[in-house]
Amino acid sequence: MTLPLRERPAELPPEEVGRLQSLCERLAREAGDLVRQRSGSAIAVADTKSSVNDVVTAVDREVEELLRARVRAERPGDAFLGEEDGASAGTTGLTWVVDPIDGTVNFLYGIPSYAISVAVVAGEPDPRRWTPLAGCVHAVSTGTTWTAGRGRGAYRDGARLRIKDAPPLAQALVSTGFGYTEERRREQATVVAQLLPQVRDIRRLGSVAIDLCLVADGRLDAHYERGLNPWDVAAGTLVVLESGGAVQGLRGAPASEAMTVAGPAGLVAELGAALEAAGAGEVGHPDGESGR
Ligand code: IPD
Ligand code: CA
Ligand code: CA
Repeated sequence: MTLPLRERPAELPPEEVGRLQSLCERLAREAGDLVRQRSGSAIAVADTKSSVNDVVTAVDREVEELLRARVRAERPGDAFLGEEDGASAGTTGLTWVVDPIDGTVNFLYGIPSYAISVAVVAGEPDPRRWTPLAGCVHAVSTGTTWTAGRGRGAYRDGARLRIKDAPPLAQALVSTGFGYTEERRREQATVVAQLLPQVRDIRRLGSVAIDLCLVADGRLDAHYERGLNPWDVAAGTLVVLESGGAVQGLRGAPASEAMTVAGPAGLVAELGAALEAAGAGEVGHPDGESGR
């Protein structure tokens, strides 16, 4: 009996995962070339989204259009989910999950931490249910490029990554990020105020895709954040997992928009417990589990 396409198992032959990994990298690098060309001209806010601080530039839109067109040409049966233009359906059970520029505020201000994030997942494009298969995070300013393939490992510029052993929470350099609405930021400020005295220090670098790769790369010990969307985390999550790390939610839940905690497993457990004690990501918060 042939399974309906959507119910096909997430496992693909390793060569096929390898091809997807290479394609993610090729597309992310091509998108990076476009952003570098556009960086010569003045970058302006084209529109705002969930709040006046949630900005989009013409370059974000142009990059997403480019990636959508390339995926349509190379993988016509696959679905696509992009931050700026939403979802288009497919027939293969695979979805490309793309953030055309992660770290748009940094891009706008000329601060180097921004990246193209391109991933392919099997199943629904929802972190609670998907299986990430391949991904690439290409940091546009520096050119540093992280890739991963399910079962094939995680790499920085071709060098294999193995996440560091977990330090105790008190010696952990922890990064985080903040949403765009006032309500969400008040809640996040309360949590970070309780966490700061318990850790080595906190970083807010401004691109969660890069933050996750830095965790896999041992330049940060852990990252936590509430309010992340699938395109923010699809590629970075796979880089962390394939480096040997863990990506989870709180109170035994999988990572989701409610909370994502990434790092070596022991630290994810300790940090998760500290976040729970600080009341982070509580179900029933007036903000619910959605919104940025
Ligand atoms: C944002 C960045 C930021 C994170 C926000 C994201 P964007 O993505 O990754 O670091 O804290 O939650 O929304 O809006 O620049 O694509
Ligand atoms: Ca993003
Ligand atoms: Ca973005």
